[in-house]
Amino acid sequence: MRKLFIAGNWKMNKNVKESVSLAKSLINRLKDVQDKDVVVCPAFTALSQVYEEVKDSNVKVGAQNMSFEDEGAYTGEISPRMLKDFCEYVILGHSERRQYFGEDDEIVNKKVKKALEHGLKPILCIGETLEERDGDKTFDIIESQLKKSLKNMDKNDMKKIIIAYEPIWAIGTGKTATPEQAEEVHVFIRKVIKKSYGDEIASELRILYGGSVKPDNVKTLMEKEDIDGALVGGASLDAESFSGIVDF
Ligand code: 13P
Repeated sequence: MRKLFIAGNWKMNKNVKESVSLAKSLINRLKDVQDKDVVVCPAFTALSQVYEEVKDSNVKVGAQNMSFEDEGAYTGEISPRMLKDFCEYVILGHSERRQYFGEDDEIVNKKVKKALEHGLKPILCIGETLEERDGDKTFDIIESQLKKSLKNMDKNDMKKIIIAYEPIWAIGTGKTATPEQAEEVHVFIRKVIKKSYGDEIASELRILYGGSVKPDNVKTLMEKEDIDGALVGGASLDAESFSGIVDF
């Protein structure tokens, strides 16, 4: 039985004060939630104070990105060693990183390995563009992203990885994938993982859906057998809507 996992990706929003205030409101609203893992992913600058705010609650902290190096002369980068002070999770390979900052599957693969080496649990994002979907390339793209980003992972690594399917055309657009469209891809992802890692790992793997998840569409998505949670952008920036999503 896979426990539902709901994560809020705050992206490049909120200063420290705003982040702490949102975290405060969330722990209060979500204090009775036991049946789901709840994670917030603030900007790097707010990680420390959000962590202090939530550390005794059922809300966990994740980062939105990470360097694939441990330390050294990499101006502007944040290493897994630094994140470990505050984070249990780290989002890797988000399409915005791929699209605007040139991250490809090889870089993402290095990051996933490095995160695991430091005991951080990766939330690995994959997803197709609208053009790829319209050209019937969705499954090819998903399979290739999975194979390349998960290169050289063993079964033990796979147990710690969460996959987020985020169709790029559904991110921030208000155009959610239908539960059927999402489920079809989730089933495919599980099949690809099963082929390489076997039935047990595949059936334990949590696969999240991301892309315009809102309080009013979360339920029908989560009812699907292979959708094990959500990675929420815009709607995670407001305590009422994010707790509405968690508590659907
Ligand atoms: P939206 O929920 O704003 O579409 O963003 C989804 C996302 O990119 C989460 O990582």
